[in-house]
Amino acid sequence: MVSAVTEPSVLHETRAAYDAVASLYAELFSNVLEILPLERAMLAAFAELVQAHDSGPVADIGCGPGHVTAHLHALGLTAFGIDLSAEMVALARQARPDLRFDEGSMTALDVADGALGGILAHYSIIHTPPRQLPAVFTEFQRVLAPGGHLLLGFFAGDDPLPQEFDHKVTLAYRWSPDSLMELLRQAGFVEVARMQREPHENERQFQQGQLLVRKPQSGLLGPAPDADQ
Ligand SMILES: C[S@@+](CC[C@H](N)C(=O)[O-])C[C@H]1O[C@@H](n2cnc3c(N)ncnc32)[C@H](O)[C@@H]1O
Repeated sequence: MVSAVTEPSVLHETRAAYDAVASLYAELFSNVLEILPLERAMLAAFAELVQAHDSGPVADIGCGPGHVTAHLHALGLTAFGIDLSAEMVALARQARPDLRFDEGSMTALDVADGALGGILAHYSIIHTPPRQLPAVFTEFQRVLAPGGHLLLGFFAGDDPLPQEFDHKVTLAYRWSPDSLMELLRQAGFVEVARMQREPHENERQFQQGQLLVRKPQSGLLGPAPDADQ
């Protein structure tokens, strides 16, 4: 549990906003993967790469009501969820009592260094103020095992600067895949694949993006070629 006294106000506001809409969000989105074949394809590739490497469980960070955590489990991964919102975590536990869901923030994960084989952050970095995102990516790098994979889902755009928009739950940002990839590179990740698609008819007008990246085996400064793909 993140202390509401010491945490930055943006975390406090984001948690309160998702606590307030958790049931509606679960109702609207728990089956959404059924109509998103491109996201399912990226999740399947992510799962296969994580399994091939076999270096630890996968954390679905910002898991919401846990439907994507459950999808990762169905793909054969040992997956657990982490979310800022206590209400989201309660709904996830209710929907899938067999899976683990914890309260926590991506800004300071209660996870040991190098403990994870993979991280999914599916539309959960969208509320992080751009100036705070480098620290989040450094935290992801810390908890991933060498060779571990990170899959990000986000609202995409072409502008090189992140664009603020009035997301229905709380203020959010959309990113060009190139700009986001540059921040990931600075945090030590290498690109594996990216997907950018036009909005589905039920989605708001923005393009949707996915970036699949890897923490190199050799670490940030290591000169050895990274041949583990
Ligand atoms: C748009 S929802 C996405 C939920 C789910 N991943 C999905 O794909 O439907 C964003 C989720 O990220 C969570 N979140 C936002 N900021 C977070 C943070 N700093 N740490 C952990 N979770 C966070 C919110 O509470 C919310 O459940």
